[in-house]
Amino acid sequence: MGRRLKFNIFRYNPQDTDSRPHTDTFSLEETDSMTLFIALTKIREEHDPSLQFDFCCRAGICGSCAMVINGRPGLACKTLTKELPDEITLMPLPVFKLIGDLSVDTGTWFRATNEKIGSWIHTNAEYDPDAHEEKMDNALAEEIYELERCVECGCCVAACGTANMREDFLGAVAVNRIARFMLDPRDKRKDRDYFEVIGTDEGIFGCMGLLACEDVCPKELPLQDQLGIIRRKMGWTAVKQLFRLK
Ligand code: SF4
Ligand code: SF4
Ligand code: FES
Repeated sequence: MGRRLKFNIFRYNPQDTDSRPHTDTFSLEETDSMTLFIALTKIREEHDPSLQFDFCCRAGICGSCAMVINGRPGLACKTLTKELPDEITLMPLPVFKLIGDLSVDTGTWFRATNEKIGSWIHTNAEYDPDAHEEKMDNALAEEIYELERCVECGCCVAACGTANMREDFLGAVAVNRIARFMLDPRDKRKDRDYFEVIGTDEGIFGCMGLLACEDVCPKELPLQDQLGIIRRKMGWTAVKQLFRLK
């Protein structure tokens, strides 16, 4: 027989004026290879159909199931209950707007952030539908792909001290995204253009460098390296602007 697990789950429905934030406790028998997705689905099916949480791919790809698991942001579909103690506390991610219980709206935050940083290839080249795709060096394509693996789950944002303190902080996820465009030869932006976007306290200079972001990233993105690279680049760009160097 499996362990008896105790789940303490944050409950609150902001749409319901009678609802107050509180914790509900559920008890469940652990099964083989049980993930938090399976456990939450069982709780919803067998105990409380009103429990709100988000899932889509169940394979660590869509990024929608992020929540705070015993104090640490992570993906519920990738978390096995056997890696956790008998008592499991689940909270919604902070920073993002709460939809209800464990469900938060990461989409609006990511859309606004991607718009702020211009998260697309900036080029004046005319689009020719008949042209062959431009070739890219394999090693460079792989370097770009490494940074493209972000699933926009929001774990790094939720774990970030600065993002929790200031609403306008762009976070490691935006810095990583900028780093991806800096590598891409098709993007014609210069360092001074990127400086306008992230050379501020909202961007790289608001980062305290404690690296909770990298610690919790379920895709193990090299956020520490990117923060270091961009901080140096933006620092150097600031110096060049100050002394009007080219
Ligand atoms: S290193 Fe910077 S971006 Fe990462 S969690 Fe700390 S303050 Fe946030
Ligand atoms: S960088 Fe990692 S933790 Fe942050 S949103 Fe992307 S996948 Fe999630
Ligand atoms: S359900 Fe898609 S990442 Fe967890």
